[in-house]
Amino acid sequence: MTIDEKVRKTLAELSPTDPKKLFDEVRAAMEQERNALISRGAASESERDNLCKELRDRWLARKNGLLSFVDENWLKASPKELKPLVGRNFNALRQESTALEVAALMKEVPLRAQAPAGREISISDAFSASDSVSAAVSYINREVPGDLTLPGNRRPLGSLHPVTQMQREIEEIFLNLGFRIESGPEIESVYYNFDALNIPESHPSRDDWDTLYIDSKTVLRTHTSPVQIRAMEKYGAPLYIIIPGKCYRHDNPDASHSPMFHQIEGLAIASDITFADLKGTLDFFAKKLFGEKIRTRFQPSFFPFTEPSGEVSISCIFCGGEGCRVCKESGWIEVMGCGMVHPQVLRNGGIDPEKYTGWAFGLGIDRFAMLMYDINDIQLFFQSDVRFLKQF
Ligand code: DAH
Repeated sequence: MTIDEKVRKTLAELSPTDPKKLFDEVRAAMEQERNALISRGAASESERDNLCKELRDRWLARKNGLLSFVDENWLKASPKELKPLVGRNFNALRQESTALEVAALMKEVPLRAQAPAGREISISDAFSASDSVSAAVSYINREVPGDLTLPGNRRPLGSLHPVTQMQREIEEIFLNLGFRIESGPEIESVYYNFDALNIPESHPSRDDWDTLYIDSKTVLRTHTSPVQIRAMEKYGAPLYIIIPGKCYRHDNPDASHSPMFHQIEGLAIASDITFADLKGTLDFFAKKLFGEKIRTRFQPSFFPFTEPSGEVSISCIFCGGEGCRVCKESGWIEVMGCGMVHPQVLRNGGIDPEKYTGWAFGLGIDRFAMLMYDINDIQLFFQSDVRFLKQF
């Protein structure tokens, strides 16, 4: 018995063991006819219109639609004790049948791209023909596969990450001064990360708390300074390099800390390098990056690998040095550590401190980017939120 025949019989005549199975059959038939139409597609809009209406009417027409028979013969005519069950099944079926409404079908049924039957009428045919008006009309009304004038799919272009942009800007300044870019491993030995840099075993930064150890001899580098030693070993003196790269520390992420962050190290070694070169270079760098009005301030500090060591501040780029929230009313923002390379560090790198001197600095690229773009949460750099990244 076909589904068309079944819905024309009453429930009593069909005497099903399980009325739900009957509904399942109807549902399956409905699905199948809908899918058949979708995979068939239509050659034109008018054909699609007609096919969708036809399928809709076959199932949903008030008079003689298949569901109207189900309503009459199965639901209305069902014995009292079956009514709740049949009613429930019928409601579910009716819900699902909304997929057969014309508007819903139209969205699903694709227009097949199809070459027009016979020869395509060209526009010159159309307008030069003696019967030019009707030819022109048939040209205009000819069926074309979709709208060829619609724009194509445009893929959004990405852009460099703000930290990368900052890094490139800093690199550019030093490249123009004659420095080269050097790099080293992020998984580093304790020797290069600490020992060779004159950082004693007792130094707090060697603690588990600050350093991510892989094993007792290997760490995720905590700064870019170990590449100083590697470069000295590799190239000897004189040496003018900058070293950008990722660094890692055992820090909990918050607005100003990230367990992974970026540094740029600078190193200049030659036979006559003095602290004046260091000051001059970093002052030039700060002015190039933040503007000619920027002033720099050097204060004494301590790092095991430089002697003397300094801390560089720039006049506040937000208030010009007047004092504001960002510079904590001091007018200055501390931006990096620096100093004259410690003689022992030169020796560890195979360079004779009697012949050569050098200066070095280290700065946080992320922190520079935060200053430059006025960003108050370092985490934003690492969340890959396009709404944020799109602004750069
Ligand atoms: N390595 C230091 C740090 O991570 C930064 C630094 C300070 C690097 C002074 C230097 C330097 O080269 O001379 O905190």
